[in-house]
Amino acid sequence: MLLNMVDMDTLVSLCKRRGFIFPGSEIYGGLANSWDYGPLGHLLKQNIKAAWWKFFVQERDDMVPLDSAIIMNPKAWEASGHLENFTDPLSECKKCHQRFRVDMIPSSHEKECGGELTNAKNFNLMFKTFIGPTEDSSSIAYLRPETAGGMFVNFKSVQQATRKRLPFGIAQIGKNFRNEITPGNFIFRTREFEIGEFEYFIKQDGWELIFEMWLGQIEKWWKDVMQINMDNLVWHEIPDGERAHYSKRTVDIEYRYPFGVKELHGIAYRTDFDLSSHMNASGEDLRYTDPETGEKFLPHVVEPTFGIDRILLISLLEAYHEEEAPTADKGESEKRVVLRFPHHLAPIKVAVLPLSKKEELSSVAKKIAADLRKQYMVEYDETQSIGKRYRRQDEIGTPYCITVDFETLEDNAVTIRNRDTMKQERVFQNDLTLYLKEKFSL
Ligand code: GAP
Repeated sequence: MLLNMVDMDTLVSLCKRRGFIFPGSEIYGGLANSWDYGPLGHLLKQNIKAAWWKFFVQERDDMVPLDSAIIMNPKAWEASGHLENFTDPLSECKKCHQRFRVDMIPSSHEKECGGELTNAKNFNLMFKTFIGPTEDSSSIAYLRPETAGGMFVNFKSVQQATRKRLPFGIAQIGKNFRNEITPGNFIFRTREFEIGEFEYFIKQDGWELIFEMWLGQIEKWWKDVMQINMDNLVWHEIPDGERAHYSKRTVDIEYRYPFGVKELHGIAYRTDFDLSSHMNASGEDLRYTDPETGEKFLPHVVEPTFGIDRILLISLLEAYHEEEAPTADKGESEKRVVLRFPHHLAPIKVAVLPLSKKEELSSVAKKIAADLRKQYMVEYDETQSIGKRYRRQDEIGTPYCITVDFETLEDNAVTIRNRDTMKQERVFQNDLTLYLKEKFSL
């Protein structure tokens, strides 16, 4: 059973209307499933990355950050197996000439075209480019399809510079590029996307326990930090024979999207496959020296990996609620759309709304907004009826609206409206900072 009530069309339209996500290059007719994050989408993504970073890196003693290059020496992709194996099977219709990933041929093609499909050919998903002015085979380079490569080739330098002992991890968040044959489902599968992942370097003995530890941390991340409905997650143990050849255990964490149960992110035990491939290909000694025994060996790796754009997609799906609510002015009932983001994810934390545009109100409201901006992303809005302005803030998930009215001029108090309960409280201006600090620390 799918637990999300919002359909993708409604979500895509809200994202465009309110400035979360726009179709890429739209004024030129778009570009095959590319998307641009608008003002609110950018803020939401920043908040997701900050939460990920805090939980998986900052709060731990065994994790160090990295920001490696997108374009690497092509030998690295040869060693990792990407040049040979990072492929999808591609088939072309002899009639309509559309190309499909063989495992994703839409059922509509059979009905609408019915053309015969060519035999599948392997298609490499890495984007090619050229380094320098000559475009020949010696100058070919690739945009990285995953951030992991950067962590492996820098393993020795990072370990020596930080003097970390096993087990420890190297983490990074960054853009990746895959020339997907059939991108789709909004930002679920695109050709340019961000990954947050880490390589956790360990001794081979005891990898099972470390894998379990990370599964536990991942569960905590979804439950406590992202606060999602855990019934929407499916923990998919990848059976023998279906895993990558180097992996001894892989779990895909799937999600019940409106378009079906599909991958959200994963965790894999990759043995010492990557370090040993890079050591063999580069000729560099990438072994770790145990400081206690002096033993030299190649660490093994557990790799939790997260698609940031997929996290963002499910943050929107989880936050979306439609409900009947009384109108602000007349007390009648109307449909209210509200994004119930956890506070730390909300793109705008506070909206400041003077009841009217009159100078005596707007000057007070602008001062309040300016003060709060030192700590929070604040929106100031003085146009349209207060009811419409509340609805707009609900629809972008702003936890608190502060209204300045004529009484404020007499009692120095403002009205604070709670997004989720719609309850309103009078709070003295002098107490505002403390009030919000308490609310946001909950
Ligand atoms: N280093 C391991 C690795 O890159 P992956 O499963 O190929 O693993 C990591 O990719 C994550 O990136 C996926 O779990 C998914 O969340 C996200 N992802 C993969 N392809 C994507 C695409 N075309 N568009 C958006 N996100 C994608």
